[in-house]
Amino acid sequence: MKIFLDSANLQELRKGAAWGIVDGVTTNPSLIAREGVPMEEQIRKICDIVDGDISAEVVSTESREMIADGRRLATIHKNVVVKLPLIRDGIQAAKALSSEGIRVNVTLCFSAAQALLAAKAGAYIISPFIGRIEDTGWPGMDLIEDIAAIYSKHGYRTQVLAASIRGALHVVEAAKAGAHIATMPFKVLDQLFDHPLTERGLNQFLSDYNKAFELVKS
Ligand code: E4P
Repeated sequence: MKIFLDSANLQELRKGAAWGIVDGVTTNPSLIAREGVPMEEQIRKICDIVDGDISAEVVSTESREMIADGRRLATIHKNVVVKLPLIRDGIQAAKALSSEGIRVNVTLCFSAAQALLAAKAGAYIISPFIGRIEDTGWPGMDLIEDIAAIYSKHGYRTQVLAASIRGALHVVEAAKAGAHIATMPFKVLDQLFDHPLTERGLNQFLSDYNKAFELVKS
């Protein structure tokens, strides 16, 4: 499963990229707004940091404008994937852009029926939002499993990207459910490293080694 960072913060992206395990980045208009830099400028900077798929979302809601915005975003860098919301105009724009060879990530997916439409429109990625589904009291991972099963049964090549991930358990469950990609905030990626037994074990190893070394020296 690929790991993406769900962030538009350059400091976080640099840290994650340095670890060598970040395969791509997802952004959304809220994340870009948080950085206070216009979309295209920030996406260009992100493409210089992470070498992988970089999702950049359109901010229009009418298909013709979405297609024009998508074409413009796609010229920023070869790694840009145009993100479109799962609304009627978004699916229409997804079909048009995919037919031109522009890779599309259909976002704000909350049902398997919606995911089917995205696949039929030729989407490169579908983004079901796990955390936001669970906020409403429904199990988010069932959706990942359903979409992965439907795509595999019918041979759709659209990748399932588990989005709106809130913690380490979501990442593990998404991998088990068959997600091709999980996108997560930097804080969650950072947490994936931690285990108290790793820390305790390392402290013990180093202390044993240092004690022995001190003994040899004296
Ligand atoms: C995905 O591409 C979205 O940017 C993101 O995962 C949304 O997550 P949130 O529900 O934590 O805002």
